Amino acid sequence: MATPATPEPTVFVIFGAGGDLAWRKLIPALYNLFLDRWLPEKFLILGQGHRQKRDDEFNQHLRQGVDKFSRRGQTDDEKWRLFSSHLSFITCELDDSQAYGQLAKRLASQDKEWQARANRIFYLAVPPPLVGVITRELARTRLHLERQRSRLVVEKPFGSDLASARELNLTMAAAFDESQVFRIDHYLGKETVQNILAFRFANTLFEPVWNRRYIDHVQITVAEQVGVENRGNYYEKSGALRDMIQNHLLQILCLMAMEPPISFNADEVRNKKVEVLRAIRPILPEEVHRFAVRGQYGGGWMGSQQVPGYRGEPKVAPDSPVETFAAVKLLVDNWRWQGVPFYLRTGKRLQARISEVSIQFQPVPHQSFPASAVLDWRPNRLIIAIQPEEGILLRFEAKYPGPAMRLSPVIMQFYYREAFRTIPPEAYETLLLDVMRGDATLFMRSDQDEAAWAAIAPVLETWENIRPTDFPNYQAGTWGPEAADLLVAQDGRSWVMPTFLQCQEDLAVCRVTMAPAS
Ligand code: BG6
Repeated sequence: MATPATPEPTVFVIFGAGGDLAWRKLIPALYNLFLDRWLPEKFLILGQGHRQKRDDEFNQHLRQGVDKFSRRGQTDDEKWRLFSSHLSFITCELDDSQAYGQLAKRLASQDKEWQARANRIFYLAVPPPLVGVITRELARTRLHLERQRSRLVVEKPFGSDLASARELNLTMAAAFDESQVFRIDHYLGKETVQNILAFRFANTLFEPVWNRRYIDHVQITVAEQVGVENRGNYYEKSGALRDMIQNHLLQILCLMAMEPPISFNADEVRNKKVEVLRAIRPILPEEVHRFAVRGQYGGGWMGSQQVPGYRGEPKVAPDSPVETFAAVKLLVDNWRWQGVPFYLRTGKRLQARISEVSIQFQPVPHQSFPASAVLDWRPNRLIIAIQPEEGILLRFEAKYPGPAMRLSPVIMQFYYREAFRTIPPEAYETLLLDVMRGDATLFMRSDQDEAAWAAIAPVLETWENIRPTDFPNYQAGTWGPEAADLLVAQDGRSWVMPTFLQCQEDLAVCRVTMAPAS
């Protein structure tokens, strides 16, 4: 988050480099950082894999991933050749102590060759049970010792409940200092998610109304069209609450609800975020049904494609009780937010792929216009669109042209792609660069992680203890189970139709594009 600077000489060790994450995300992100000249000249990626592969085979495999997933599309021969001169591979098992000794020697000789004390990033692109063995081995080989230059990067899931998260955090803390641990939540690397901070704290306009006096409620929607794909194994142990709400959606909630930090120092920002999580009102077990709804998709149609239900997906039990949709209502008990509900929902196989935050303002305190003028009157709404479009939209009332006074809602909109005419980096590019620069602002600290587990613990426990009897309860290609509508309807509200669909359907859209100031 600080002013970007090219990182110091770096060795980037990827444990699990043969896996999906490295293929789809890490290597494409590093390749783009390389092309954008963010990587230092002294840079080495050491990919660990456990299957014997020749270097050129590994290289080819990674290139195919970049061709498929890079925002730039197909690689160019010469550019790939230059990039891959920074790639090297190690084949070993993750519990092979000798291999760590060899790694330590390799890192030392690299320092010698470069005549530099390179930063060492240990990226654990491995399933959670392997985190313990790797951190222990790194510590045994004393690779954890230098706090300034050794960093450990871990991917979610950070545990599967509060107890296991604590255990995992303790395992890492036994070897690494918290300042060395970077827990990745890729949502925090998304441009618009980061822009919530800029929007709230770099403008004077919005902060005065950012509270219970003016805001009626907030909705956070992360809707996916994809099903569980080939991740049945993982997802059967996870479900939507663990997979999305505990991390991505709660992190967005933190950015929306946090107090202004004194500075953008990593810990200042993270302190403010953790305060939000701690202020979430605990949901009593007997009240879970009033605060949370779960769902599982059945078969249906996604456009013209017929898709199976969750229980018919590979590696999923035919009577699986796992939720693919979750909606929760949370209350943040502090001065700013008392009584303002935050509704969070996420699901797979929903009608559209849309992530957005919708802030619904209070109605005007007194309606001075005649009834005939306000037939179509709606309260102000601010939308922070995260994907597929990245932008901010504000709905307000305007006079409909004509001799009579008639009000009509209009939208003022700002889109990144229109305003800045540049392709934003992928979330992983931002985050990997931050790790290399040692900036932890956008990463989860252990106390944040644990507070997020604590916030959803009552729902998690109740759902685990009471098997759902109505699954599947929503059809693929819809907006989730009916019970999700009731969750907000009981408060006299309804889910906001995602803005892009709504814009197309029922608003007189006034396109006022805000260009960057010259
Ligand atoms: C991951 C989840 O963290 O986020 C996936 O494990 C989900 O289940 C993905 O599909 C969504 O990320 P994005 O960036 O596509 O919205």
